[in-house]
Amino acid sequence: MTSPHAFWLAGRQAAGDTTFDVTNPWDGRLVGTVAVPTEEQVEEAVAAAHAVREEFAASPAHVRAAALDHVARRLLERTEEIAQLISAENGKPVKWARGEVGRAVSVFRFATEEARRFNGGDAQRLDTDAGGTGRLALTRRFPRGAVLGIAPFNFPLNLSAHKVAPAIAVGAPIILKPAPATPLSSLILGELLAETDLPVGSWSVLTVPNDRMPALVQDERLPVISFTGSGPVGFSILESVPRKHVTLELGGNGAAVVLGDYASDADLDWAASRIATFGNYQAGQSCISVQRVIADASLYERLVPKIVAAVESQVTGDPSDPATDVGPLVSEAAAQRLESWVDEAVKGGATLLTGGTRDGATYAPTVLADLPEDATLSCEEAFGPVLSVQRADSEEAAFAAVNDSKYGLQAGVFTHDLQAAFRAHRALEVGGVIIGDVPSYRADQMPYGGVKESGVGREGVAYAMDDYTYERVMVLTGLDL
Ligand code: SIN
Repeated sequence: MTSPHAFWLAGRQAAGDTTFDVTNPWDGRLVGTVAVPTEEQVEEAVAAAHAVREEFAASPAHVRAAALDHVARRLLERTEEIAQLISAENGKPVKWARGEVGRAVSVFRFATEEARRFNGGDAQRLDTDAGGTGRLALTRRFPRGAVLGIAPFNFPLNLSAHKVAPAIAVGAPIILKPAPATPLSSLILGELLAETDLPVGSWSVLTVPNDRMPALVQDERLPVISFTGSGPVGFSILESVPRKHVTLELGGNGAAVVLGDYASDADLDWAASRIATFGNYQAGQSCISVQRVIADASLYERLVPKIVAAVESQVTGDPSDPATDVGPLVSEAAAQRLESWVDEAVKGGATLLTGGTRDGATYAPTVLADLPEDATLSCEEAFGPVLSVQRADSEEAAFAAVNDSKYGLQAGVFTHDLQAAFRAHRALEVGGVIIGDVPSYRADQMPYGGVKESGVGREGVAYAMDDYTYERVMVLTGLDL
C-alpha cells in the first residue's frame, strides 16, 4: 500500500486526516489516493496567501519570471510521465494528454514573457488642459489580492496552468482547487512550484472536496475567483459573491459551419476530418468540441457521408494505447447521461447515422441528423462524442442557427471567402470565430472565453493577468514637462 499523495499547503507538502481515491475511468483501476486538507489546514493556506499578498505583489519581475520559466522547463522534461498520469486519471488518450502537457509548457512560457513585460507603466501627459499644467499620470496595474482558482477535470493540467501562471506573473497569491476526479496532475504542478523560490504562502494546491468549495468562495481574503466548469455551479458562485471579481469559463455547444463556397472534394475532406477529430477528442469533453455541424444545403449530401466515415475511422479504446483516438468519458455516470440524451433524441425523431452505443464509461462516436428542436441535445452541452448535422439554406440562416443557442463560446466557419469571414466575425455571438477550422482551435495566448451562458471574462495569459489586477493611477505634480 503506497502512502497517499500529499497536497500543497503554502508551498509545503501536507497530509490531512482523510483521503479519497482517484480511479482510471477506462478500467476502474486505482491511480492514486489523495489526502484531503482539514478545515484548519485550509485556513492556514488562505491566511498565508492573504499575509504574503503585498510582499508577492512587490517581488521583482525577474524572480517571478524565473519561477515560471523553471516550471515550463520541468514540465517539458517530465512530459511523458505527466501525460501518462493525465491519461490515467482522466481517461484521455495519451496522444491528447501529451498535447495537453505541451500546451501547459507554452502557458508557463507565455507567462514568463508576460511577467517581464507586466507593469511597464503607462505615462500620460495631463497638461492638455490648463488645470493639468506640470502634471503627468502614471498608470500601473496591481493585484486585486489572492486568487481562488477552481480547475475542471477535462484539461486537469492545462486549465490549472491557466489559473496559476498568470497569478504568479502578476504577483498574486493563488489557491488552486483541482477537480476531485483529476487532482494528480495539479499536484505535480505543486511539485514543480516547490522547486522555485516563490515566497511561502504565494501558492497552495488544496484537494478539498466540492462540498467544501462554498467556504473558500465566500472567504473575503480571496477577492478573485477564476472558475472553469459547469454553468450552474459557475453562476451560483457569481451570484453568491457579487462583490468579488469572478471569471467563469463555462460550457458551449460548438458549431462548425460549412459555407457553400467550401465545396471542392479536398475542402469537404478537410472539413469532415477536422469535425470528426474535434467532435471526439478526449471523448468530446471539451467546451469547444464540435457538437453541431451546420452545412450549406448545396453540399450537405456530399459532406455528411464523409463526416460519418471519418467518425467511424476514429479508433476507440484503451487511452494508454498511443493509437487510441477516443477513450472513455470521465465516469460511467457521464456516459449513461449521454446515452439517455441520445436515446431521447432518437425517440423524438432524430436519425442515428452512426454510434449510439455504450460500453461502461465509453460512448461510441455518434452522429445524429434531424435532431428535434426540443431534444435535450439541441439545447444543452453534450460534453461527449456526439455530433448533430443540419442543413442551412443560406449563410444568414447558418449564422442564425449558430446563435440559436444559450451558449456562445467559439464557432468554426469553413469558407475561403474573406468577406464571409468578416460577416461571420460580426454576426456570431461567441467569444471566438475560427475561420477555416473547427471551433475547437485554441492557442493559449489568445483571449478565450464566452458570452451568454458560456461565461464571463477571458483566459489567455495576458487577459487573465488583466482580470487578476486593476489599474491604479499616480498623478505627478509640478513637473517641467
Ligand atoms: C475548455 O474545455 O474550455 C478548454 C478547451 C481548451 O483549452 O482547449
